[in-house]
Amino acid sequence: MRILHYSDPHIPTPLQHVPLGKWLSKRALGGANLFLRRQHLFADAVLKLDALARFKKEQQVDLVICTGDYTALGLDHEYEAAFTIIRPLMDAPSGYVNVPGNHDYYMPDALREERFRNWFGDTLHSDLPDYQVDGIWPLVRLIGDDIAIVAVNSARPNPLPWRSNGRIPVKQLEGLAALSKDSRLANRLVFIITHYAPLLADGTYDKRLHGLTNAEPFLAACAEFQQAMILCGHVHKCYHVTVPPTGQSIFCAGSVTMAKREGFWIFDLLNGEIQASKGSWDGQQFLLNTSSVSFKVVLRAP
Ligand SMILES: [Fe+2]
Repeated sequence: MRILHYSDPHIPTPLQHVPLGKWLSKRALGGANLFLRRQHLFADAVLKLDALARFKKEQQVDLVICTGDYTALGLDHEYEAAFTIIRPLMDAPSGYVNVPGNHDYYMPDALREERFRNWFGDTLHSDLPDYQVDGIWPLVRLIGDDIAIVAVNSARPNPLPWRSNGRIPVKQLEGLAALSKDSRLANRLVFIITHYAPLLADGTYDKRLHGLTNAEPFLAACAEFQQAMILCGHVHKCYHVTVPPTGQSIFCAGSVTMAKREGFWIFDLLNGEIQASKGSWDGQQFLLNTSSVSFKVVLRAP
C-alpha cells in the first residue's frame, strides 16, 4: 500500500476574476493582500500539480490524501479551477481523502455556501457515518484491512486579517476519542488528518494567531489510538516530528507548489512497518528521496 500525502497547493487564479464586491469588503482586503503579495511563489502551481499527477501514476500510488488550502480566498471560481486541476489526483485505486484549509474558508460566505462540499462532495463519503457529529466530520475511510483515515476539520473563516489560526470543535474531538475505542479501527494503522499542524518542526506549538489553538486536547485524543499518525499542512515546510511523551508521529506536508519549499510525503506500508519518504522537486519533476530522508516507524502490536 502506497499513500501520497500533499498539502497547500494554493492554486493561483487571475485577480481580475475576483468579484468586485469581495474587494470592497474591508475585512477581506487586509489578509488577502498579505497572501496575494506572495502569490508569485505559487505561479507554477498548475505545472507542478500536473507533474504530481504523473508522479502518482508512475509511482503506483494507491491512495491520495490532501490536507487543504487548495485556494487563496475560497472563492467559487478558485474552487472550480482547483477541482479541474486536482482531478487527475483523485482517481487513485484506494481513493482520495481531503480536508479544507483556512484559505478554502477564507470568508464566511465560503462556509455559508458550502463551497468545499459542493466542489469536493464526491471525496467526502464516510464509511462510519454514525460518527459524523459536526456536519460531515469526523469522516472515516476504511482502506483494505490495515488502514483507516480519520479526517477532522480544523479550518474556519478568519475575517480578522491578522488572524489565521484554527480550532477543532469539541464535538469532533469527542468523536475522535470515541473512534479510538471502536473495534473496527483496533487493528488498523490510523492516519488522523487535519489542516493545522499541532506541533511545529521543533516540537513547539505554533503561534496563537497562526496555529491550532486547541492542539493540546487534539494530541490527547490522538494519543488514545493504539497505532496512529497525524498528517497536516498549513505550515509551508515539509517535516516530521514526534509528540513527547507518546512518540506519536506528525507529518506536515508543507506546500507541494510553493517555490523552493516544494514537498510531500509518501508512506509505504509493508509487513507491519511504515516507511515514510519525502518527495522533492528538481525543477521539472517530483522525485522520491528514499535514501536521504526515509525512515521506518515500527507499528505497535495491536
Ligand atoms: Fe493554511
